Parts: sequence; structure tokens; C-alpha cells
Amino acid sequence: MNDNDNKIIIAIDGYSSSGKSSMARALARVIGYRYIDSGAMYRAVTLYAMRNGMILPDGSVDTNKLIAALPDIKIDFAVSNEQQNTLLNGENVEKEIRQLPVSNNVSRVAAIPEVRHRLVALQQQFGRERGIVMDGRDIGTTVFPNAELKIFVNAPAETRAERRLKELLDKGEKVSYDEILDNVKQRDHIDETRAESPLRRADDAIDFDNSSMTIDEQNKRLLQLYNNVIGHHD
Ligand code: DC
Repeated sequence: MNDNDNKIIIAIDGYSSSGKSSMARALARVIGYRYIDSGAMYRAVTLYAMRNGMILPDGSVDTNKLIAALPDIKIDFAVSNEQQNTLLNGENVEKEIRQLPVSNNVSRVAAIPEVRHRLVALQQQFGRERGIVMDGRDIGTTVFPNAELKIFVNAPAETRAERRLKELLDKGEKVSYDEILDNVKQRDHIDETRAESPLRRADDAIDFDNSSMTIDEQNKRLLQLYNNVIGHHD
């Protein structure tokens, strides 16, 4: 029996700044799985579009130009000192893709079907060897509909905005709560209403509201859910 036969695929979906990335990363570390942040991939494509004049002054995307450039956009991840870095054509863009200009444009780029098809195919390749925790919006519905464990993380927009504000202030960025709350709400709306793979809880996903949990509590609970599945697996 192949070692990978025992490994499962874990899909963690949810709204922006719900804490799903931290949860996914922590779980992957504890159980020795690979962690993939699918949002980082949409962010990297967005950065490419911004750098190459494909975001027009009114904020809309020059879709045809971006679709034509897709074959030139290579995305990968490199792990160093427990920190995962996103690579755009070999360049480490981890810091830049987390900043507000990218956050403000990413939903429109992520709504383009051709962008999604390309990134979904790449995400499925990462999952070929199993033993993966992937977080995003459509992982349990579109990318890995057969994932053995699916979690849907949620918390009110205000809680998520406060978390995001703290993260950005800690990084030394000058942003206000209102600006962040607007961005969170706007992204929720675009993510939920786009035609292609909108943010939607998979029917067989487990609801996970972490708004009143400490980070420690949420990590323990997630590990418990994983252990439940493993107990019933194989
Ligand atoms: O999780 P995040 O905030 O880094 O995601 C960035 C954007 O990418 C967000 O607006 C939604 C989009 N996204 C998506 O459409 N599908 C995914 N699987 C992951 C992210």
C-alpha cells in the first residue's frame, strides 16, 4: 500500500479574514501535511495584472489582455523557516500580495472564469499526492469536491475587519477600521455573487464559527475534526 493512500485532502473554505489560513497552516504543521493558500494564487495573478497595466483607472480589469498573458504567469510556493512564500515567476511576492492595493483588486480578477480554470487546475495538481490542507472559497465545492474533510469557517464581518486591522497595523501599514470593514464587505459581496464558483458552503462541509474561540481552541477543535475523519478512514 502506498503511503499516500492513508492521507486525506482537507478543504477549508470561508469568508476573507475569517482566520481560515491560520487554522489551515497550523493544522498542516501539526499533522505533517502540505499547506496551500489558494487565495495567494489569486493575489499573485492580481499583482501581475497591476504591474502590467491590466487594471484600468476605473478599477476594471482588461480581461482579454490578462487572459492572453495567463500562460506567462507561473505561480509556486517556497517554504523557508516555517514561512510560506508565494513566488510569481520566481520572485518572492509574499509581502506585496498582502497589501491593500492587491486586496482591493483581487475579487475582480478572481471573478474571471479563465483565471479560475487555470488556478483550479494548478490547485488540483498540488493535491495529486494527497496529504494537503488547502484553504480558499471553492475548495470543497469545485477544487476537491471529494475531499474527506471540509470545513466552512465563518465569523461576522465586524470581527473579521478587527482581526484584519490588527494584522495590518502590526505590519506597520497605515489603515483605518472603516476602510478595512468596507473592503471586507465588498469582497464578501463579490465573492458570493460572482457567476463562476461563488463562495458557497459545500453541502457536506462542517460549519465552524470561530468568533468566540481563542486561536488555541480553534486549532484543537480542528485537530479533533481531523482525528474523527482519520478514525473512520481507510
Ligand atoms: O483568502 P484571501 O483573502 O487571500 O483571498 C483573496 C481573494 O481571492 C478573495 O477576494 C477571494 C479570492 N479567492 C477565490 O475566489 N477563490 C479561492 N479559492 C481563494 C480566494
